[in-house]
Amino acid sequence: MEISLEGKAALVTGAGPNIGSGIALALARYGAKVACNDISTDAAKACVRRIERNGGEAIAVTGDVSSEEDVKRYLGEVLETWGRIDILINNAAILGGRGLLEENLGFFNRAVTVAAAGNFLNSKHAAIAMIERGIKGSIVSILSSNAWQGAGGVIAYAFHKGGLANFVRAAAMDLAPYGIRVNSFSPTAPTPDNPELLAEWKKTGRTELRPRPQEPAGRPDWWRPGGRFDVRGMIPMGVPSTPTDIGHCVAWMCSDYARLITGCDFVVDGGARAKYWGYIPAAGNAGPVPLIPLDVTTMDEVDANG
Ligand SMILES: NC(=O)c1ccc[n+]([C@@H]2O[C@H](COP(=O)([O-])OP(=O)(O)OC[C@H]3O[C@@H](n4cnc5c(N)ncnc54)[C@H](O)[C@@H]3O)[C@@H](O)[C@H]2O)c1
Repeated sequence: MEISLEGKAALVTGAGPNIGSGIALALARYGAKVACNDISTDAAKACVRRIERNGGEAIAVTGDVSSEEDVKRYLGEVLETWGRIDILINNAAILGGRGLLEENLGFFNRAVTVAAAGNFLNSKHAAIAMIERGIKGSIVSILSSNAWQGAGGVIAYAFHKGGLANFVRAAAMDLAPYGIRVNSFSPTAPTPDNPELLAEWKKTGRTELRPRPQEPAGRPDWWRPGGRFDVRGMIPMGVPSTPTDIGHCVAWMCSDYARLITGCDFVVDGGARAKYWGYIPAAGNAGPVPLIPLDVTTMDEVDANG
């Protein structure tokens, strides 16, 4: 038995170099043609180049996921190119931010709009396109652990990821009569593994995906420090996931093997979310089996292709 997305067309929003690109590559390696969306044309094009380097077929469709005009236009480009859409991955998001006491309304509203309008508009118009063509497709929204548990310092993110958790269940109900499935995937701070991104990091000496924002100056004297994150030490199997692990799972979620799975959330987290809250995993465990890679290009090929 082989999982295949052959003959299917997919759209991945926010196909930047980390998780979006990893999922887009996975869908392509499993056989789908992939439209790579991003608000940044460079990011969308880089994702297309990565897929093509790995033998897949892809197009770049630039646009803002929260603009209905943009969404209709780039979905139209997908339909014009391939005549169909079978898979939508709602991945675009604005990460980061601040806690309740320091967040500003401008950032809060923009982050919520990108998540809310982005998931709503792309799901609505992709679903209509599927229904009109009799396609029993698959929609996956990318959430976060912040959809399910509260962390300090990310009030906008917590709000929109938590909201999307129930958006997915309700959309699953709306689209169930058409055989269209809606699920979510919750990443848990994966270790980046896109060779292009890692090469960029090496050049600039960067080691962290998203450095914490600088502490604002002049905090009031009642200010109390928040907690901290340990996203590597709390994984029962001892090893963080990668965008490639996420891609394998999302590709399977979009395959016909998952034909009756809808309204569900998935994780690939070495047991992190199943963990009793106060349980601290031991060090020195055996780890998982080796990762099955999806990017089969070398850094030389990355350099040669820009
Ligand atoms: N990186 C993590 O540790 C982590 C953990 C949990 C969940 N996630 C989720 O996974 C997804 C991808 O995360 P990532 O780490 O790859 O983030 P990222 O910031 O590297 O990529 C997000 C991409 O979305 C694009 N984008 C932002 N606003 C957009 C808009 N309005 N229209 C179109 N594109 C837009 C950005 O340009 C960027 O390329 C997000 O939904 C994020 O919340 C990430």
